[in-house]
Amino acid sequence: VAHKLLEGSLLEEARRGSREALAELLSTDLPWLTSALAEEADRSMKAHVGSKVYYRGLLEFSNHCTSDCLYCGIRAGNTEVERYTLDRDRVMRAVAACIDEGYGSLTLQSGERRDPAFVEYVCSLLREIKEMSRSDDLPEGLGITLCVGEQDEAVYRRFFAAGAHRYLLRIESGSPELFASMHPESQSFEARLSALRSLRRVGFQVGTGVMIGLPGQSAEDLADDILFFRREGIDMIGMGPYIPHAQTPMGSGDRLTPAERHRRLRLSLRMIALTRIVLCDVNIAATTALQALDPLGREMALAAGANVVMPILTPGEVRAQYTLYNGKPCTDEDAGTCTVCISRRVASTSRRAGYNEWGDSPHFAERMRQAGAPA
Ligand code: 5AD
Repeated sequence: VAHKLLEGSLLEEARRGSREALAELLSTDLPWLTSALAEEADRSMKAHVGSKVYYRGLLEFSNHCTSDCLYCGIRAGNTEVERYTLDRDRVMRAVAACIDEGYGSLTLQSGERRDPAFVEYVCSLLREIKEMSRSDDLPEGLGITLCVGEQDEAVYRRFFAAGAHRYLLRIESGSPELFASMHPESQSFEARLSALRSLRRVGFQVGTGVMIGLPGQSAEDLADDILFFRREGIDMIGMGPYIPHAQTPMGSGDRLTPAERHRRLRLSLRMIALTRIVLCDVNIAATTALQALDPLGREMALAAGANVVMPILTPGEVRAQYTLYNGKPCTDEDAGTCTVCISRRVASTSRRAGYNEWGDSPHFAERMRQAGAPA
């Protein structure tokens, strides 16, 4: 691998989307290779999207969930979680904090619900947030990303009309077999894919992602995930390591050893770097799950091609109830503490933060330009 990498051929093949080259780079667990890929990704990032880091304040506004994903701590079947939905006032207080901090964008995330009351609540929040966030600093208001799971296309249209313009829906794994192995039969890979395509038709900037280090996942599967992102024309990527949660069918009895944590962190960093190298102009998030593996996990991702961070705005009292995986960081803190911490983290990487900017994915603008619509 060292020889082929020095020659440049392996990286060139990977860049062009060779499954074999990507799998070889993903499966070679050497610290120097991980650093070399991070450096290459950093160059690609600077050339295609610039070096700014964009914020998306993350508000986990409800943990009620009708899905039963076998890996997730807030799955419907976990009776040990106390369920909450933030009322309008609590939401608006968090939104005010988001604006005060100059984050520019907000991500509204929750468990998956499809009932009319929920859809109506989300629409009303969107309209109100859009309305109250317009100012001289933000003439278009906050940029809003929604992350509330699979919905009918008609519902996606309502969300879009109400003011959301980006949507995150992870495919979790681009392998239909792996997808099936971690979800109940009621959830299908085809339905998830079709939801992603609906989002694109509706006009959203579309984000997706996978979990890295899943049981039974091969380097080829991860290579295929990157090619999946490219094939589907994805604009934004949010992915992180799989971390077992003890109160789930997949995670009970599975504890990561320190050696495994380090391996999974390096694998995640190579995955982020290669995704940047292949996709070039998308936005890539340095996700919180990386920080569960290493206190500096998110900074490492920012140095490996990521350009988005998501400071948590969820009020301190309910944070612990939004535990998707064990060891989730920042659950005993409040938004205020996160704010200071995250700006220090970004400053430590010597990158500039895009305050009061949306920081949309240039890939989306290019997609619109090619479709002949104004960007
Ligand atoms: N480990 C890592 N990520 C997880 N998610 C859910 N459960 C886990 C876990 N155990 C991720 C999923 C989901 C996102 C909101 O959180 O990818 O899409």
